Amino acid sequence: MIIKYIIVAALALTVLSGCSDDSSSNNNSSNTAFNPKVDQSVSSYEVTKNAINVGKDYHSFANPESIKVTHLNLDLTVDFSKKILVGTAQLDFQKEDLNATQLILDTRDLTINNVTAMGEKVNFSLANDDSFLGSALTIDLPAEADSVLISYQTSPKASGVQWLSPEQTAGKKHPFLFTQAQAIHARSFIPLQDSPQVRMTYEATIRTPKALLAVMSASNDPGTERDGVYEFSMPQPIPSYLIALSVGDLHFKSMGERTGVYSEKGILDAAAAEFSDTESMLIATEKAFGPYSWDRYDLLILPPSFPFGGMENPRLSFITPTVIAGDKSLVSLIAHELAHSWSGNTVTNATWRDLWLNEGFTTYLTYRIMQMVYGDERFEMEAVLGRQDLQADIDALPANDQIMAIDLRGRDPDDVFSNIPYEKGALFLRELELKVGRENFDQFLLGYFEKFAFKSITTEQFISYLEQTLLKEHSDQLSKQRIEEWIFQPGIPRDAHAPESDAFSIVDQARDAWLEGTVQADEIDSKKWVVHQWLYFLNNMPEKLSQKQLADLDKVFALTSSKNNEIAHSWLLISVNNWYQPAFNRLHNYLTSIGRNKLVKPLYKALSQTPEGKIMAQKAFAEARAGYHPLTVKANEGFIQ
Ligand code: BES
Ligand code: ZN
Repeated sequence: MIIKYIIVAALALTVLSGCSDDSSSNNNSSNTAFNPKVDQSVSSYEVTKNAINVGKDYHSFANPESIKVTHLNLDLTVDFSKKILVGTAQLDFQKEDLNATQLILDTRDLTINNVTAMGEKVNFSLANDDSFLGSALTIDLPAEADSVLISYQTSPKASGVQWLSPEQTAGKKHPFLFTQAQAIHARSFIPLQDSPQVRMTYEATIRTPKALLAVMSASNDPGTERDGVYEFSMPQPIPSYLIALSVGDLHFKSMGERTGVYSEKGILDAAAAEFSDTESMLIATEKAFGPYSWDRYDLLILPPSFPFGGMENPRLSFITPTVIAGDKSLVSLIAHELAHSWSGNTVTNATWRDLWLNEGFTTYLTYRIMQMVYGDERFEMEAVLGRQDLQADIDALPANDQIMAIDLRGRDPDDVFSNIPYEKGALFLRELELKVGRENFDQFLLGYFEKFAFKSITTEQFISYLEQTLLKEHSDQLSKQRIEEWIFQPGIPRDAHAPESDAFSIVDQARDAWLEGTVQADEIDSKKWVVHQWLYFLNNMPEKLSQKQLADLDKVFALTSSKNNEIAHSWLLISVNNWYQPAFNRLHNYLTSIGRNKLVKPLYKALSQTPEGKIMAQKAFAEARAGYHPLTVKANEGFIQ
């Protein structure tokens, strides 16, 4: 009876929310709001789960079920004066449905000049713009065609491309460009099937001003001649969100046999020193989780406007310069992007609902890599900090957004970024590890990466694999019910593992004693504290501190001038929340020189809580806006209105 009711409710919701299998329903009307008429006694997650068409990509107009693109050949000229990429994309495809006559691609803000197949022009049409999905490009195909050639150009406001003027670079002499395709921005610089379940190999010819170097998420030859024409090939099939390009006055420095770093000259040595353990990380990861499938692993260090910490573009992770701290304290970011070479790039989420398969596995692997390379203490501290980040999101997010296999129908993936797929995913995997033992769990992971290599999979495929493997072998330790609770319910299951760190206990003691007034700031025995301990010290302060307390801390520990961007972030957040004005100059500099959204967004949000704060936010935003990436603008402009 209950089951029947759930099905009826699910169907009702499907109809009411305008959600059907038809991809034309990919619009805002199919949002996640539950209709009040649906009986709340049916848990909302049951209703949602039944209404979702598992494996359907609600964020693409493409029709890979009929025609699948298998190879891309790009030929693009980079025009810095017009801020456009112009050229051609040749797409080779396979017909899954032999009667299919139309190829449907994703685009956003692209100008399509013409499309040819077998040397002849063919008809095409560009649909109206959806608010965040862009517009479908439908191409009529001659019966025998197995390839189309699209001549197109991008818009200067392409959401996946940032164009930087020379002043916005470290060297100040040359312009710079980088792309950021995840989640659904590849379509703003290439017309393609922009879905993580479509994998393609690619080749590219990139034409740039002669002084500049182009690099891509593909084979990069560190010794290439700087002649303005660069050739790339990616022989392994990858999803579109991993296609990436950057152009600038880039230089290369080797860090090991298979690893090296690209960046502007000014920071090249600092970057190579900071990330000099990359080769060891690569070796350790291979040893534990199986061979690295991508040949070289290089890093590209971007200008500070890069909106993320890192992006796992295959063979060439894109990295924010804000983690170059001078002491390797923030290099877990490198472990994270490297780990994606296994979880994400080799085994890929089938839809953005399944993002936790990418990020949760990667976060789990990151902890393991940090433990292998830097030892238990570092691992424990990072695990506690991660657990605290997760708790903050659990406390702040609505229940539906706490679900790992999140319902994203009608939502822009950019708006749903949180720690849930990352830290909840990792905590879930840690539980599996603890229940079955590390050795067994590692065996399972090896098998998983091998079984699904170069495939895009859904949450449900993962669960079914788990049922056939670990769950079967360890039925005394694991239950399907518990696994489903982790994946489909909000919150954190009761009795979940709680990471602990001895290195943090002494920080707790110091903080408590200082707050009680039994110890003065200059009596805190912090000489041996590492960055993580400082972060833990600051992140666990009570919400309200007095001006005297803040001034004391600042005087003794020079927090306002901390060169560590994470410590500075935590301190500035405290300063905003307690209106500690001596930190506001630094705050302004911070907001106008860093574009990494994770670092600036909480500050804008905190500032927006008071009228005086909002004025400061508006001032910083107005000054910084031209240099921010489109994603950072979009994520923060709401706070200053
Ligand atoms: N792939 C992500 C970045 C991403 C996720 C972009 C979803 C767009 C949509 C990348 O690997 C990542 O997780 N970056 C984090 C790193 C951190 C968790 C170590 C970041 O940028 O903060
Ligand atoms: Zn990631």
